[in-house]
Amino acid sequence: MRNESIYFDYNATTPLDSEILSIMLQSLKDDYGNPSSIHHIGQKARYILDNSRDRIARIWKCKPSEVIFTSGGTESNNLALFGAARHQKSRGNHIISSEIEHHAVLHALEYLEKFEGFEVTWIPVNSKGFVEVESVKAAIRPDTILVSIMAANNEIGTIQPVNRIGKICQENGIIFHTDAVQWFGKEPVDEIGQFNADLVSVCGHKFHGPKGVGALFIRSPLLPHPIHFGGAHENERRAGTENLPGILGLTEAVERFTKAPVFDRIDWIDWRLELRAVLSRMEGISIRSPESNCLKNTFAFTVRGTDGMTLIANLDLQGICVSSGSACSAGSIEPSHVIKALGADKEESSSLVRISFGRDNKREQLDKLVHILPSVIESSRL
Ligand SMILES: Cc1ncc(COP(=O)(O)O)c(C=O)c1O
Repeated sequence: MRNESIYFDYNATTPLDSEILSIMLQSLKDDYGNPSSIHHIGQKARYILDNSRDRIARIWKCKPSEVIFTSGGTESNNLALFGAARHQKSRGNHIISSEIEHHAVLHALEYLEKFEGFEVTWIPVNSKGFVEVESVKAAIRPDTILVSIMAANNEIGTIQPVNRIGKICQENGIIFHTDAVQWFGKEPVDEIGQFNADLVSVCGHKFHGPKGVGALFIRSPLLPHPIHFGGAHENERRAGTENLPGILGLTEAVERFTKAPVFDRIDWIDWRLELRAVLSRMEGISIRSPESNCLKNTFAFTVRGTDGMTLIANLDLQGICVSSGSACSAGSIEPSHVIKALGADKEESSSLVRISFGRDNKREQLDKLVHILPSVIESSRL
């Protein structure tokens, strides 16, 4: 008999909320107009687009013109980094970021270094995975134009002091971007200003919205260079006919799942303590998520004597879905750059297990995980 599926991979993606799905399906049928068309069918679509932007701006306490819809977290990060770096180029070519950013930031900045003459200082993290504010401060130079530090890490869940980093950037007249993709839906957003950032990346499918849609907050009067060219959509920052049902779904998800209190449950802290207790009785395990200043739903560890692919596959055979590092083109798992940045060796960096809970998980599902985890780890080591 097939095991019941237990989904503990909410940092990878979340199921689309069923009410949001119905709203989107209706809109897909009814609102087929192009928001740029002059006639009344187009204008109906235009109203939904403008209204979605207004609804998000109301929650974020910003101007509607500061909300740009994109195709997700990757595009928001690319638009923020390429757009801001090119916009600021006449002022300098130095950028600061951290070693544990998502690849959508790392690879974009590596490209800017390799092909466009920018220089990036990669800030190391401390042994618990935190960027130290003082390290950012010390890296600032007269030619620094941009700092990009994520709000919360996708692999180990560390919450970074972005508010304080943003303040330092403001004091030094430097643009600050934060990738807040993992923050939304897990930690409350009372207003977008809480990050103290000029640019904030958001992605709908991490909080029960649809895939392929996200947003970038751009604090006015900053106008980063566009990376897509064509029409004048999105305040001339993002050409292309808008993904209206996706934008509507994202708006619903922002309204339903990102404001305080984000969750009505508090038991994940206990769940993580239980996992910590079970794993600390075993040899060769290192727990990589810190006890405090960590996303409450995220618990990551590494295992000596096996690799992430084997661990994930063996848990999957029991019906349990969790993650490891990112898959490479050959289908195996790359050593995690985040775990490496914590000072771990290659064996440990290749054996990450990330468990990330979400609103549909039940206590019995955790019980099953706690029960089988030790034997799955032991059998994966054979
Ligand atoms: C921190 C972070 N940034 C950016 C992204 C990219 O989002 P997407 O792949 O949906 O574009 C992700 C997705 O996992 C993420 O975790």
